[in-house]
Order: sequence, then structure tokens, then C-alpha cells
Amino acid sequence: MKLKAWKSALALALKKTPRTASEFAKLPEHVAIIMDGNGRWAKKHHLNVSRGHRQGTENLREIIRHTDDLGIRALSLYAFSTENWNRSEEEVGALMQLMLDFFTSEIDELDAKNVRILILGDKSRMPERQREVLREAEKRTEKNTGLQLNIAINYGSRAEIVKATREIAVMVKNGTIRPEEITEETISDHLYTAGQKDVDLMIRTSGEQRLSNFLLYQNAYAEFVFPEVLWPDFSVHEYDLALEAYGRRDRRFGGR
Ligand code: FPP
Repeated sequence: MKLKAWKSALALALKKTPRTASEFAKLPEHVAIIMDGNGRWAKKHHLNVSRGHRQGTENLREIIRHTDDLGIRALSLYAFSTENWNRSEEEVGALMQLMLDFFTSEIDELDAKNVRILILGDKSRMPERQREVLREAEKRTEKNTGLQLNIAINYGSRAEIVKATREIAVMVKNGTIRPEEITEETISDHLYTAGQKDVDLMIRTSGEQRLSNFLLYQNAYAEFVFPEVLWPDFSVHEYDLALEAYGRRDRRFGGR
């Protein structure tokens, strides 16, 4: 890293107030976050794992707000994977309740801020009440033109690609498209994120460095940042540090 970049990184590390858009060299248009570490946070504080998830919802509000304030176009959050059903009944129940509480308490503010909510994943396996609330949040905000907020719930990227493939196969079968006409865009258009830009910055908290079946297709050229901090401790300042790291990356998309 050059001296100037080091100086700016150091200045940022010392300055803990939220940054404004003009303070960044460049900002991503689409940020994705794997909010990892709620369980370890709970353990560290001798608390029940559900309490860790609840704490992880508290900072979520701030992170969404800051994303919107910075004018970032899209934010994708991994809230519940298809594999998370394998956790204890108590933990799954707590997460389901948190989602219900989150959408019920936040929807007015999000809608007022022109945020458009989209659920990535298969809602059909969700409990009825949650399904209703998620559908309602999507419907109420579908015409909004501000921050695109994608929340992945009962989501798996491979399953998403299988779904897209099946839809395209049906189109081939009924003659809507010829196999040779299928492009990368055709596939993008059949993902949950159809019409959205690919991910620019992928953040996974807690020091783990893997994708865990999250947005595999959309992350093709994403930059990755892996803060050590556990998700409930991921503050707006930590977020700014990740965005600053992104600003220092030289993105070549396979070119020179
Ligand atoms: C991973 O931490 C986190 C999750 C499986 C759930 C994330 C959910 C939230 C932050 C709150 C609910 C979301 C919404 C949209 C209201 P982990 O439990 O795997 O942590 P560990 O690896 O330390 O055990």
C-alpha cells in the first residue's frame, strides 16, 4: 500500500464518526453481507444463542441506515440459509420471531425512506405469518426507487441456479428461446436478483472466509473483505473501514 493510502487508512481508523459519501475514493453500488458470528458473540457474553441473533438485529438497523445515507444502490443480507433449518428448534424459532419483529417494526421507516425490499429465497417453507409479513413488505415497497434491500431468507445459491435453469429449460421446451440464444444475461434474469447489478463488495464478519452458498453467480467479480469482528459488534465504523478497503482495490475484471 502506498504511503498516502496508509495515511488515509490510519486517519479513518482514528476517526470513528460515520463517514459521508464524499469522504470515500469510490463506493460500491451493491454490497452483500454475510452476518456471521452471532453464536460466538452470545457464547463470549455467556448468553443464549437467540440473544446473539437479537443483538445482531440491533446493528442491522444502523447498517441499513448508513448504506442508504451513503447512496449505495443495493444491499444484500444473508439472514437465513436453506441449511439453517438444521439448527435447534429453539434457535430456528427465535430467528423466525426476529424476522417477524424486524419487518413489523421497520417497515414504516424503510418505506418512508423509499427502500425497496426483496426477499431472496423460497418463502414457501416459511411459517404462514412470516410468509405474509414478507410478502406484504415486498408488495408495499415494490414501486420504491431508493435503496434496494435484498434479504436472503431460506436461500441457497445453488438452488437459485437450479430454479433459473429449470425456468430456462421450460422456455426452450416451449420454443420461447433457442439454446444458442441463452446468454449470461438470460441466467441473471432468472435469478432472484433479476435486473440488479452484480455484487461489488462482499463482507463476511467474524473472520470466516467462505461464501457459504451466497450469491455465487452475482459475486463473480466481487471484492471480498473479511473483518475479524463478530456480527453484533460490526458497527458503522467497521462498515466504513470495509468500504474504505474497497476504495483501495484495483478492479480489473480480468483485464490489465
Ligand atoms: C450467523 O451467525 C447468523 C445467522 C445464521 C443469522 C443472521 C440473522 C440476523 C443477524 C438477524 C435476523 C435477520 C433479520 C433480517 C431480522 P451464527 O449463528 O452462525 O454465528 P456463529 O458462527 O458464531 O455460531
